[in-house]
Amino acid sequence: MNQSGEAPARAYPDLHDHIAALEKAGQLIRVDRPINKDTEMHPLVRWQFRGGIPEKDRKAFLFTNVVDSKGKHYDIPVIVGGLAANREIYRIGLGCDFDELEQRWAEASRNPLKPKIVTRAPCQDIVIQGEELNRPGRGLDGIPVPISTPGWDNAPYTTLSQYITKDPETGVQNVGNYRGQVKSPRRLGMNPSLELRPGIYTHWLKYKKRGERMPAAVVLGAPPAVTFMSTQKLSESLDELEVAGALVGSPLNVVKAVTVDLLVPAEAEIVVEGFIDTEWLEPEAPFGESHGHVNLQEYNAFMDVTAITRRRDAVLTSIISQVTPSESSLIKRVSLEPMLLHGLREGLGLNCVKRVSLHEALTNLRKVVILHMEKDTPRVEVWRAMYGLCSQHRAVGKYVIALDEDIDPENLDAVWWALSYRCNPALDVEILRHRDQGHGPRSLRNGGEDASVLFDATLKEPFPPVSLPKREYMENARKIWEELGLPPLKPQAPWFGASLGEWDERFDAMAKRATESDYWVTGEIIAQQRRNDVPMNTETRRLKPKE
Ligand SMILES: Cc1cc2nc3c(=O)[nH]c(=O)nc-3n(C[C@H](O)[C@H](O)[C@H](O)COP(=O)(O)O)c2cc1C
Repeated sequence: MNQSGEAPARAYPDLHDHIAALEKAGQLIRVDRPINKDTEMHPLVRWQFRGGIPEKDRKAFLFTNVVDSKGKHYDIPVIVGGLAANREIYRIGLGCDFDELEQRWAEASRNPLKPKIVTRAPCQDIVIQGEELNRPGRGLDGIPVPISTPGWDNAPYTTLSQYITKDPETGVQNVGNYRGQVKSPRRLGMNPSLELRPGIYTHWLKYKKRGERMPAAVVLGAPPAVTFMSTQKLSESLDELEVAGALVGSPLNVVKAVTVDLLVPAEAEIVVEGFIDTEWLEPEAPFGESHGHVNLQEYNAFMDVTAITRRRDAVLTSIISQVTPSESSLIKRVSLEPMLLHGLREGLGLNCVKRVSLHEALTNLRKVVILHMEKDTPRVEVWRAMYGLCSQHRAVGKYVIALDEDIDPENLDAVWWALSYRCNPALDVEILRHRDQGHGPRSLRNGGEDASVLFDATLKEPFPPVSLPKREYMENARKIWEELGLPPLKPQAPWFGASLGEWDERFDAMAKRATESDYWVTGEIIAQQRRNDVPMNTETRRLKPKE
């Protein structure tokens, strides 16, 4: 059945606007040659995460000529990396600067905007339901879902798939991004990672108790704000489409799904409707996971498809996940960091926390967390911040490190430097027991419980300066470097020396004389300070001045 969908007015970008904006900004690579979705597509885009390409140079890939291993051609293009291959792509999609993010999320959760219900929607340009779904190419077999980890995954999986379900008691809808194993042209998997406490699982339990199947609508490709929101954990009392509307400052257009009683984004690319069984479970996976290992087979839910609706010009979005860094880790990280910061500052009144940084490469997010602390924060507040961080989520912070703001959390050499000189493990390390293992291969050791290690690696006493030339000398030398036409520099913090509290006017005077080539004067002064009553290596700062 075909309907003509007149596009409702809106004040936010849909995926097509976003793709056009990416192309204009030089962030999109179009691939028009045939690409096998089951063997070539994900490995090709994976190279930009494993090939030494800096984050800012990663791109979105739009595949316009998609085939499978049997030579089948698909009429739906696939975009990979289109939402968060790099931060700029995310910023373009959300239309806001990163320093506004903390307030935007907080504001949107406080003042959600009710969506606008429309009766005609692009996502229902084409509606396939009933017996027609059984015809070749009219069910899930018509959608070019790629294989993410060829060689390990047991099927194609939808990865950027937002499952919409409704709480049968409150009527509040949840939108969560979960993977879906393509099991048959009319059967899609559903895998709630229980350690993440996904909203869909709460709903599933309620339907199960009632002895009913759970109606669901799976959105494949949505306005970017919906996608970003679906990867964040919000309070279950919030309707996430309302929060997404508030995030873009305008109500979202939604339309009633055709065969289930749910509201779906009107500008969605493809919507798969159906019922998730609450009695029977099926084996699901192996599938390459974001914790960097393959998730072996588990019993999980499945959905019987009752309708597939789509735009005439639908584009399928697929996301690079598995080993981090990935599009999946970045899409969560960009907003999760400010949200965790907000929880510490606003929730616990810890304004001394300046930044939360989630280490991304290989560990995935949440395991290694760095807190930037304001200078001279009292020790008890440093510890309250670390305990508070761990309490925000059952599995956030396996290793938590509190650092001063001069240490760049992205530079693990610098983090080790701080751990080496600013932290005494006998005094500044705590183990928190009885923690959840979180997302990862599950171990039965220790009764299945994990633990956290917290490190206070902030400065606790004045320290001598960083042993690099002062800023003015480094800046001057940089000009000479450039004049000489030497290779471009990529400054890494610290790239100049700064005081860390232990320095005085006497040292300043000596250093100044040295740079003015007057060090002979200093030689004469120190000759006046000779002593014969101290052992070698006695620090002058530990001595009282001689009477
Ligand atoms: C690419 C991608 C795939 C994901 N797949 C799953 C999944 O299969 N199951 C799951 O429970 N969470 C998955 N997540 C994490 C959820 O999206 C995340 O926990 C979200 O907060 C869930 O929202 P909800 O609790 O409001 O439903 C995935 C996230 C991303 C970015």
